[in-house]
Amino acid sequence: MKPVPSDGRLGANVSTAAVEVRNLVKEFEDGAGRPVRAVDDVSLTIGEGEFFAMLGPSGCGKTTTLRLIAGFEDPTGGEVLLRGRPVHGVPPFHRPVNTVFQDYALFPHMTVLQNVTFGLRMARVAPAEARRRALEALEMVHLPDAGDRRPGQLSGGMKQRVALARALVNRPAVLLLDEPLGALDLKLRKAMQDELKQLQQRVGITFVYVTHDQEEALTMADRIAVMSAGRALQIGTPDAVYERPSSRFVADFIGETNFLEGTLEARHGDRGVVRLAGGATVEAALRDPGALVGHPVAVAVRPEKIGLAVGDGGSAGGGTVALAGEVVDVQYIGTDTRYRVQLRGAGAAPVVVRVQNRQAGYDAMWTRGTEVVASWSGDHASVLA
Ligand SMILES: Nc1ncnc2c1ncn2[C@@H]1O[C@H](COP(=O)(O)OP(=O)(O)OP(=O)(O)O)[C@@H](O)[C@H]1O
Ligand SMILES: [Mg+2]
Repeated sequence: MKPVPSDGRLGANVSTAAVEVRNLVKEFEDGAGRPVRAVDDVSLTIGEGEFFAMLGPSGCGKTTTLRLIAGFEDPTGGEVLLRGRPVHGVPPFHRPVNTVFQDYALFPHMTVLQNVTFGLRMARVAPAEARRRALEALEMVHLPDAGDRRPGQLSGGMKQRVALARALVNRPAVLLLDEPLGALDLKLRKAMQDELKQLQQRVGITFVYVTHDQEEALTMADRIAVMSAGRALQIGTPDAVYERPSSRFVADFIGETNFLEGTLEARHGDRGVVRLAGGATVEAALRDPGALVGHPVAVAVRPEKIGLAVGDGGSAGGGTVALAGEVVDVQYIGTDTRYRVQLRGAGAAPVVVRVQNRQAGYDAMWTRGTEVVASWSGDHASVLA
């Protein structure tokens, strides 16, 4: 096998996707020797320069997918292509990718500069050239003067930046980041999110970014794969996965959602007619291929998509759902007020409604016990199995 050039590129085949994963499967054995599917038939295509997030709860297979792309694990089935080339059997250090781990994995006995030049020295880059490139990488992460310090003398955020510099220094085509900000406090995490995003746009490297923080994925990524139990349930832009979830898991995992339980009575094109548990009938967009007529479904609608009015609701026009009910709880949360409204005909659980507080000086618009009409557009609600 030919080693890749020291700049980490695989060659001229740049018109293809940066990363392609086809029907990837990885099985481990549990303690009793039974197979566990950590990755279960995942297919992804990640474009050059894309910021791609893998989002999902603990144990859903995010790290394993990254390790398969990096070459630290061999797949049980399926394949990985980097810039259009299958990389089966190619060891990690010959793949045009670099990984940033959650725990930084810096060498404590080396200085920052030695840490950053380490990979280049292994690749036999001349010392002067290695030093020049390392200083450039440290400049990139806003640590131009930290070269002589040791990791123990740095804050968590600084260590994270050194780890990034070390990963960027040999100019990989793809950077794999496994919960890189997980160890940082909230404020630093937010600051680093902005920095990372800017850095990614500036250097134009493809990022595959693993996180279990939905807000991080929504704010940073161009596209998100939402994972559960080894599968990529939905892949799309942040607004697509938030506004148009195609499964109950995705609607529930990202943001807050009301689920109105019922039965799918009929399908009309892209609309479903759902009879709710309390007897009311509402329309919503059909987004889940698993939702079948005659079977239990939920109508998912976000708290901020619901409007409240006193009286008959007035505006309930075509495609709009309007249900009367009673305010049962009011919570002031600064930017918004969060109402819980018991809707007649919907079912037992009250719906959550968020109303922005646009006036200075707070007075809840409605108090407990107020009769209101809740309304939302059928397009803003999804029928999910
Ligand atoms: N080497 C291994 N041997 C056996 N099982 C493993 C091994 N590595 C991972 N698993 C199992 O595979 C599944 C996926 O693990 P993985 O580390 O990919 O999850 P993750 O999404 O990264 O979770 P987290 O958010 O907690 O880091 C888990 O059930 C885990 O127990
Ligand atoms: Mg993990």
